[in-house]
Amino acid sequence: MDPVGELTMASGGGAYVKHTVVAAFAILLFYLVAFRRQQILQYITPGQAGTTQDGERLFSEQELLAYDGKASELLYLVIMGQVYDVTKGVKHYGPGESYHMFIAHDATRSFVTGEFEQYSAELSDVSGLKDTELQQLLTWLEFYEKTYRYVGKLIGRYYDARGEETTYRRHVLERAASAKDAETDGRKYPSCNVEWKVEMGTRVWCTTRSGTGHERGWAGRPRKVTDVDDDARSVQFCACVPDEEADADPLYVPFPGCDETADSCIIPDQH
Ligand code: HEM
Repeated sequence: MDPVGELTMASGGGAYVKHTVVAAFAILLFYLVAFRRQQILQYITPGQAGTTQDGERLFSEQELLAYDGKASELLYLVIMGQVYDVTKGVKHYGPGESYHMFIAHDATRSFVTGEFEQYSAELSDVSGLKDTELQQLLTWLEFYEKTYRYVGKLIGRYYDARGEETTYRRHVLERAASAKDAETDGRKYPSCNVEWKVEMGTRVWCTTRSGTGHERGWAGRPRKVTDVDDDARSVQFCACVPDEEADADPLYVPFPGCDETADSCIIPDQH
């Protein structure tokens, strides 16, 4: 073959490769624009958090500030990362009113503690609350669900950038649910004290007053109990079982990795 022919073939092959690359790139671009538009927008547009895959609205903290009743007349309230339009409750939530602190940011803890004075980011943290106090949050959630219009989710402690529930939120719900179960079940043994911190995991412990609040003369050992609730879901909770009975009932098992004779135990996060 003459050198010119070889050259022509070589450049023809090069053009073919070039076209294939361009076509592949165009297909990829089409796919991204058609099916992943929201996710892309979410990452490239500051302050515009977009929507979840189910079409729910997602707010960044920055974006939510526009709904404080000053920038516009809309009032958006957040509880456990869920955003509600409470504009019709302006007499409670409007600028200068008693509960304005709940507007345009997440102050979930204040629903239990009544800290309404000054907003700070840590007011979204409820890890220092007791299970029964977390349960009160569920009552507030029900209230907002019934009374006001749900508008979406706030990206942060309770939902991630794709609108998925965080481990943190799951923990809060689990602990709140276990308080509810303990309350309604009339259980054989009192429940443990429970605290949870991101850096530590869950600590369960028994004292002579845990569960009931009344002195009983014995503390007991923390044991894991698995039960089935009214909705046929499997629920776990911690019971303080008297030392002499701690190993007698197979329903009450020691927590994995914990000293069976200890009255306190740290359970690392499973997630
Ligand atoms: C942890 C403590 C408290 C929290 C988290 C709390 C929260 C709230 C919220 C969010 C609302 C508005 C509900 C709505 O959207 O309709 C409200 C209304 C109200 N709260 Fe509180 N509150 C607390 C304590 C108190 C206390 C101690 C009092 C009385 C001394 C009180 C008296 C009222 C009254 C009178 C209303 C208005 C009811 C109405 O007009 O419909 N609150 N509270």
